Amino acid sequence: MAARTVKRRHVSSRLSCKLFIVFTVSIFCVVVLVTAVRRNVPLDFLWGAFFQNGDVSNFSIYVHSTPGFVLDESTTRSHFFYGRQLTNSIQVLWGESSMIQAERLLLSAALEDPANQRFVLLSDSCVPLYNFSYVYNYIMVSPRSFVDSFLDAKEGRYNPRMSPKIPREKWRKGSQWVTLVRNHAEVIVDDEVIFSVFKRYCKRRPPIDIRKGKLNLKLQKQHNCIPDEHYVQTLLALHGLEGELERRTVTYTLWNQSATKTDNKGWHPITFSYANAGPRKIKEIKDISHVYYETEYRTEWCHSNSTSVPCFLFARKFSRGAAMRLLSDGVIDHFELSALLGNE
Ligand SMILES: *[C@@H]1O[C@H](CO)[C@@H](O)[C@H](O)[C@H]1NC(C)=O
Ligand SMILES: *[C@@H]1O[C@H](CO)[C@@H](O)[C@H](O)[C@H]1NC(C)=O
Ligand SMILES: *[C@@H]1O[C@H](CO)[C@@H](O)[C@H](O)[C@H]1NC(C)=O
Ligand SMILES: *[C@@H]1O[C@H](CO)[C@@H](O)[C@H](O)[C@H]1NC(C)=O
Repeated sequence: MAARTVKRRHVSSRLSCKLFIVFTVSIFCVVVLVTAVRRNVPLDFLWGAFFQNGDVSNFSIYVHSTPGFVLDESTTRSHFFYGRQLTNSIQVLWGESSMIQAERLLLSAALEDPANQRFVLLSDSCVPLYNFSYVYNYIMVSPRSFVDSFLDAKEGRYNPRMSPKIPREKWRKGSQWVTLVRNHAEVIVDDEVIFSVFKRYCKRRPPIDIRKGKLNLKLQKQHNCIPDEHYVQTLLALHGLEGELERRTVTYTLWNQSATKTDNKGWHPITFSYANAGPRKIKEIKDISHVYYETEYRTEWCHSNSTSVPCFLFARKFSRGAAMRLLSDGVIDHFELSALLGNE
């Protein structure tokens, strides 16, 4: 039985998220975000294969991309993405509240369709680990949201000036990649108060820039806060909704623990390549049944509607080569079992 441990970590700016996929299960929902750098959905072929096995009435896709970017025949090979970009996209900067605002825009658009019941936030480097119907049933039978959320007492991300609107004991940390039930998505979209506190006091400390001279001293004193790893979990805690959560994410991230403090980047996710996305590694991820949260001494056994389930439905970050390997190994279709039993 496999476990994983969640320690303190944060994401480096170089590995910023280029794109969100929200897929709502129609009952379903995908959001995708593309930034200025990336002008396409790099793993569209894999998601195309995934949705091909779904029922079109069971999901809808929403994409947040660079303003003006249009998903059509010339920008994606998967027709499921055609025209799915938001018309009110904003420019997103990593570590800024614009990231949370993009999530809110996606959820807001997805909430307009009353058929959307679950909201899955994903990035452009995420891959599915199961076929559509498995993912669909796993998420739909759960009356709870899946939100990675844990106490973040040690790290100094909390800025006391957020008080009293955000008392320290409600401050939470966790993965940005959440899956929400409808009323939790509504809480996020309706929130103006906590979002504006984040906008004001939760900012990323910029890297030292020699050209800025003495200004660096001031900038480095700023709380190094990562809005997208705190906002949803803190907001839901403030609303007293933690009892309605599975307090874990369904998206696996492999953290590079060898990155040191001195390189000022902290931990960052490892990108899977063709070579390390083989069947044995994928099976290892799929076999994880519980997560240990160090700061709370809490073991979270993975459940959906009180039934034991594998913890992870999706994984990141995957290169195109790694995603192609998943496809050819049959991870997301019904040949999956035989492929996993094959030699590596
Ligand atoms: C689509 O939704 C229906 C109703 O919830 C369900 O019975 C069916 O299995 C779903 N289809 C897929 C491919 O998941
Ligand atoms: C959740 O589990 C309960 C108790 O086992 C069951 O009665 C209910 O039908 C399940 N909900 C869904 C949506 O499958
Ligand atoms: C992990 O981080 C270290 C230090 O930043 C880097 O040298 C190494 O290549 C990274 N490993 C992987 C697998 O990305
Ligand atoms: C989907 O995956 C599940 C679990 O891996 C498997 O039992 C099921 O047969 C698959 N369904 C399809 C339609 O491939």
